Amino acid sequence: MNIQIPNSLSAINKATSVPQYTDMVAHAAQGPHIISRAEGIRLYDDEGRSFIDGMAGLWCTSLGHSEQRLKDAAMKQFDELTYTHIFAHRTHAPATLLAEKLTKRAPESITRAFFVNSGSEANDAAIQIIWYYNNALGRREKKKIVGRDRGYHGVTVASGSLTALPYKQDDFDLPVNDKFLRVTCPHFYRYGRPGETEEDFAARLAEEFESLVIDEGPDTIAAFIGEPVMGAGGVLIPPRGYWPAIEKICRKYDILLVCDEVINGFCRTGEFWGSETVGGVQPDIMTVAKQLSSAYLPIGATLVSEAVYDVIAENSPKHGVFGIGMTYGGHPVCAAVALETLKIYEERDTLGHVQSVAPLFAERYAALAAHPLVGDARSTGLIGAIEIVADKETREPFPASAKAAPTVYRHTMENGTFGRPLPGDIVAFCPPLIVTESDINEMFDALAKGLDLAEAELAAHRCAV
Ligand SMILES: Cc1ncc(COP(=O)(O)O)c(C=O)c1O
Repeated sequence: MNIQIPNSLSAINKATSVPQYTDMVAHAAQGPHIISRAEGIRLYDDEGRSFIDGMAGLWCTSLGHSEQRLKDAAMKQFDELTYTHIFAHRTHAPATLLAEKLTKRAPESITRAFFVNSGSEANDAAIQIIWYYNNALGRREKKKIVGRDRGYHGVTVASGSLTALPYKQDDFDLPVNDKFLRVTCPHFYRYGRPGETEEDFAARLAEEFESLVIDEGPDTIAAFIGEPVMGAGGVLIPPRGYWPAIEKICRKYDILLVCDEVINGFCRTGEFWGSETVGGVQPDIMTVAKQLSSAYLPIGATLVSEAVYDVIAENSPKHGVFGIGMTYGGHPVCAAVALETLKIYEERDTLGHVQSVAPLFAERYAALAAHPLVGDARSTGLIGAIEIVADKETREPFPASAKAAPTVYRHTMENGTFGRPLPGDIVAFCPPLIVTESDINEMFDALAKGLDLAEAELAAHRCAV
């Protein structure tokens, strides 16, 4: 059967006069932009236009779109074993080898891996492990999990309860119960107070967390969860000292420290793990997905310390089964692709490559700070963002009706590079980790042009602020 999806959908879009190339964001409701093929770090739409995949898809296509070794790894695994589960004392080589490799490369505290199919499921499993762990220890009240405003941890009922962004909470009746608490987002540019240094800010947020623990009762607080560098909330890089201070409070009150490395993990922030970039904290639980397989196939993992594992294992005879396994968790083909991805990172020294091109990435961001629309420009490793403001002095944002970030995004895309508009009038870049200096220059040239074109369009809205 010959199904011509791209062309036929394109015809539908034209018939309804959408999507206009220049109006894709404003008219998103009217029809999708159809991407037909990809090569290396570039995407091609159904009309043949090419774009740098400046967001690595959704923060995930680390090795670009043409990695033959990953395709071969999948095919080889299909030939050997398409499926068996990893329940009840059964396993297979790809899952075993992947667990071994992942835990060996993880922070010292981490020793065990549980496989799932996505980042949301990894955090869902983390929440269930936290509750199960405390029940096993007879601490039935110690169940509350503290996240941060603007944190993103997924979209399932449980992980979505941690995602502190209005679009995931307000109309979904989330958080699902009163076990989900929040503290201030560690974004100095927006939440630092006049006269406060970054160090003061970090200390104030640590105090805020400790006060919350004391007020709620340490016997009720089970865990603290955060992305070392926050992604979907706006690429928010915490102030120096913040994470070590949070870790100290967790240790003091016997609170599990959970690092969501779904975006950060695998070299993204300039170290192998985000937890290293933010001060070398030792999580009790760590969640990973996305770049674990360079997005060639869906796979994620919840990684835990030996201490957490021991409690779970000791409680197992009570039920005979650890009831969070899913049919496709650790699927052999996905695991084989993830294993090959980790081998590629190691053999090609992907971390060394990221560290060699990150200075140019940072320099190009820093240069944008002078632009009249840019209030803040920030990056670490190969993830960064600009924050659009109407007034650089007062940091006043544009009115929502101006659609400031989507306007910059649209013009940047028209100049050949995909970024991503995020809540808070932020435009992010998070390119595949294989980008060269020349690719980086091309991306930032497009963004600089996008900003200039947006400035002309947004000027009228500035008067209205
Ligand atoms: C930090 C973080 N955690 C969890 C998730 C959820 O992952 P998924 O979309 O694979 O469910 C995301 C997705 O963007 C994320 O950025």
